[in-house]
Amino acid sequence: MKLSLDTADLEEIREAARWGVLRGVTTNPSTIAKAQSDFLPLVKEICSLVEGDVSVETTTNDSDLLVAQGREIAQIADNAVVKIAMTANGLAAVRRLSDEGIKVNVTLTFTPAQGILAAEAGAYIVSPFLGRLDDIATDSMKVLADICDIYAIQGYDTQVLAASLRHPMHVVEAARLGADIATMPFTVFESLVKHPLTDAGFKRFSDDWENARPHLGELLPSMQEA
Ligand code: G3P
Repeated sequence: MKLSLDTADLEEIREAARWGVLRGVTTNPSTIAKAQSDFLPLVKEICSLVEGDVSVETTTNDSDLLVAQGREIAQIADNAVVKIAMTANGLAAVRRLSDEGIKVNVTLTFTPAQGILAAEAGAYIVSPFLGRLDDIATDSMKVLADICDIYAIQGYDTQVLAASLRHPMHVVEAARLGADIATMPFTVFESLVKHPLTDAGFKRFSDDWENARPHLGELLPSMQEA
């Protein structure tokens, strides 16, 4: 499962990219607004920082305008993916853009039925929102599992991107159920690496090493510097 950041914050993207496990970025109007930067330079910079797909959201529900925005977003960079909301007009635009070979991520997806529509319209990615389903006491993991199962049974190529993830177990469950991509805020990304036993264990090994070091004789050159 590819790990993706759900942010338009350049510092967060640079930091996650440094770890060597970042495979994409998703943005939406809310994260773009939070970044408080000029839109086009910001999106270009994000695309240059990440090797994988960068989803950039459209800002209308008019099919013709969606197609126009989609064509322009696709021109921003080779890894730019057009994000379109799951509406009837959106589906019409997904069909037209997909037929032109433009990659589309169908967002704001909440049911397996919507997942089927996205795949049938030729979407490159479908984004079920898990956290927002949990917020209204709906079993988001059942929705994700159903979409993954249906896509496997039907042989759909559309990638399933688990979105609106709020905590590490959302990520773990998404991987277990077969999601192709998980996108998450930087706080959740960070929480994947942290464990108190790792920190305590690392400290104990470091202390033992430092205490024994004067008596260990010849070390590797890089160990002299550490
Ligand atoms: O980018 C789409 C999605 O991940 C948003 O998440 O936390 O605003 O529900 P959230």
